[in-house]
Amino acid sequence: MKTAVLRQTFLEYFQQRGHEIVPSSSLVPHDDPTLLFTNAGMNQFKDVFLGREDRGYSRATSSQRCVRAGGKHNDLENVGYTARHHTFFEMLGNFSFGDYFKKEAIEYAWTFLTGQDWLGLPKDKLLVTVYASDDEAYQIWNEQMGVPADRIVRIGDNKGAPYASDNFWQMGDTGPCGPCTEIFYDHGPEIPGGPPGTPEEDGDRFIEIWNVVFMQFNRTADGDMQPLPKPSVDTGMGLERITAVLQGVHSNYEIDLFQNLLKSASEILSGVDTKEASLRVVADHIRSCAFLIADGVMPSNEGRGFVLRRIIRRAARHGNKLGAREPFFYKLTGALVDLMGEAYPELVRTRAQIEKVLLQEEEQFARTLDKGLRLLEQDIAELQGHEIPGQTIFTLYDTYGFPVDLTNDIARERGLSLDYEGYEKAMEAQRERARAASKFGIDYNVGAGLEGSTEFTGYEQIDGHETIRTVLVNGDAKTAQAGDEAVVVLERTPFYAESGGQVGDVGLLTWSGGRFQVNDTRKEGKNHLHIGTVIEGELFPGLEVDARIDHARRQSIALNHSATHLLHAALRNILGDHVTQKGSLVDAERLRFDFSHFEPVTPEQLKAIEEQVNDQILANAPVGIEITDMEQAKTKGAVALFGEKYGDEVRVLSMGKDDFSVELCGGTHVSRTGDIGAFRVTSESGISSGVRRIEAVTGKGALAWMDETETRLRTVAGLVRGSRDSVIEKVESTLERNRQLEKELEQLKAKLASSAGSDLAGSAVDVNGLKVVASELEGADRKALMDTADQLKNKLGSAVVVLASTEDGKVTLVAGVTKDATGRVRAGDLMKKLAEAVDGKGGGRPDMAQGGGSNPAKLSEALQQVATWVHDATS
Ligand code: ALA
Repeated sequence: MKTAVLRQTFLEYFQQRGHEIVPSSSLVPHDDPTLLFTNAGMNQFKDVFLGREDRGYSRATSSQRCVRAGGKHNDLENVGYTARHHTFFEMLGNFSFGDYFKKEAIEYAWTFLTGQDWLGLPKDKLLVTVYASDDEAYQIWNEQMGVPADRIVRIGDNKGAPYASDNFWQMGDTGPCGPCTEIFYDHGPEIPGGPPGTPEEDGDRFIEIWNVVFMQFNRTADGDMQPLPKPSVDTGMGLERITAVLQGVHSNYEIDLFQNLLKSASEILSGVDTKEASLRVVADHIRSCAFLIADGVMPSNEGRGFVLRRIIRRAARHGNKLGAREPFFYKLTGALVDLMGEAYPELVRTRAQIEKVLLQEEEQFARTLDKGLRLLEQDIAELQGHEIPGQTIFTLYDTYGFPVDLTNDIARERGLSLDYEGYEKAMEAQRERARAASKFGIDYNVGAGLEGSTEFTGYEQIDGHETIRTVLVNGDAKTAQAGDEAVVVLERTPFYAESGGQVGDVGLLTWSGGRFQVNDTRKEGKNHLHIGTVIEGELFPGLEVDARIDHARRQSIALNHSATHLLHAALRNILGDHVTQKGSLVDAERLRFDFSHFEPVTPEQLKAIEEQVNDQILANAPVGIEITDMEQAKTKGAVALFGEKYGDEVRVLSMGKDDFSVELCGGTHVSRTGDIGAFRVTSESGISSGVRRIEAVTGKGALAWMDETETRLRTVAGLVRGSRDSVIEKVESTLERNRQLEKELEQLKAKLASSAGSDLAGSAVDVNGLKVVASELEGADRKALMDTADQLKNKLGSAVVVLASTEDGKVTLVAGVTKDATGRVRAGDLMKKLAEAVDGKGGGRPDMAQGGGSNPAKLSEALQQVATWVHDATS
């Protein structure tokens, strides 16, 4: 049975049993910052299990694309070398949300696997495991399905803690979980390995094909096991594994789908053997890479993007091992689309994008791959012992973009290991250097270890009468005197501390007889640190001060911050949902927004983006701020950033008509979009592969930008004697005229050279049977000198021609010798002497040489020497 048929058969089997066929969800889990990639069929149903979401059906079935690479369980280095490790695989599953439970779940699985109308696997090839204390599951297997006791294995908490067991499944540290029962297939005694529960279980003989989980609990962050609203079922069967069983092969790479992929890969790599481990790596990796890109992940140096980059680079390196010297990996996309596009239409839709991203990443990596490999080879050759030093691993990573697991991959092929500790040390030293090089003189970590927290009043207030809690001078708690640089902590403050890209507030703390200039505000733990200088007076804990932020500056920042939200939403509208925030800086002058996108944003797209933002500004809609919990925020469509930690309470900012933008944000904002005034993009550029940067201005800044543009336009118009309206035609006609003049000049120069050439022919002197001309040609450039020299050679027969010109204190030299005479005197030799005489350098072929010098005063004397040199050479 073909892979595609099996996938379909599974879904139809469960559909016939009342299950809704649900499409696979994205590999990027939506709104779940706890998960790197979708790694199981149940991910998309997490909230349904928890009773927080109702889908209108209580039975579902799916074929889910999964990636298990990166994060805690990283099998990347094994892929290609074992029969069943993959970066990407498909999980077939059936789910019950409070509908059926153990009995039906087991029965469905057993009938599908062994029923004659279905897969018809021999029962004596199957073995099952149950959670040690799950007598109910044991009995169902034994008594109702008739599985003999010696083919049922009970497995307890074999991983060292309560519920830490091969037969207790949980999605992550938190979330739905429960005991499970697993079905194993025996690939036969010729393959090493023992049944589950024995010391040999890790061998390849008994392969787990199906996991049936009885979802009963929700594990909370503090380890509590809360019962789910209703007992449920979650199952997972690896499509590649079950296909291997049905096709009577042992390795997943032998199933039809992989055989086809391997064949295509082999064709692309000029026919390498399909049994090569490296080719298997390539065939595996194209699946995860293509699907990740289809789901909006871009190669980068952090988070999901970094995992993708590592996989692409590993594929590129293995291709290189197989002889590829050009980008090749991207070419496999077509074969994959042919094989899997029908089941996953998103693959067909995004094919061009996948190819582009892969090609670019391959090209980028190729530039350093060879150099890096050479460095590594050299180090390996000089290695004493079996460990690659940490510094080498670090250099490869830092300079050549070799992810550590790639270096490890190479080391492993040579039977070498890595000095991880040394690598970590080198990394730490690097971080230290970066810290030291930071532009701030003051140590912002001085507040580390401060107790308590500062209450922030600055959403509503711009000033307040507040009490000082701590004063630090050079890190020490003490009274600050006039002139001291100090860090001040208040009980409450209207000063916003830098976060979420928004810069910290500046302003003044004043008290009777004293002033403290706040130059920056930063957060340390829960405290706001006011960083600045005492202008007069003394500053100490307990003192009451008037705290006042620079309000005008804060206003400008608010315009830019709110505009950033609108920009983010507009980017997603115009460019697509793959756009995610990669960085942001918001200050009083401008905003800067970095985001994932593969290619430059076109001028047309930029215009459309600007227009959308300005439309929202003109709509002057109120900005909504709501403090709520994560669940509510998600319902509103607020997108959570992966890797960000959110507390129990989140602040949701809604902006624009019909909630044009909804984001989680702690920053300070305008109250209506109209306050932003105007929005103008000032630049768009790439900052690293797959990441673009837009800079923009708002409010008065935008007006100033437009003013300046207008002024420049008028200045240009003035220079070409036109007006604002006629400037384009004027510039065009000026350029056209310029081109004509250049052409005329060329022609005139050529004419001049040829007439000068005729004149010079008359001045030739005879030296040992050769006609020698050595002369200066005023105003001639190098090309004119060469043309004239050629003409003279043609005219004079056997000749030596040396021509020179001077301009701006520089000498240009050309020497030519007719072919018949190069045996007697060489142009290159003459030129060397000549150039030297005018303090320069030169050389060339025997018949034509060029040079230059920096001493025009010596030129005429040098030219006079030429006849003598020729005489000496030819006598
Ligand atoms: N969610 C279960 C697994 O991934 C079925 O094995």
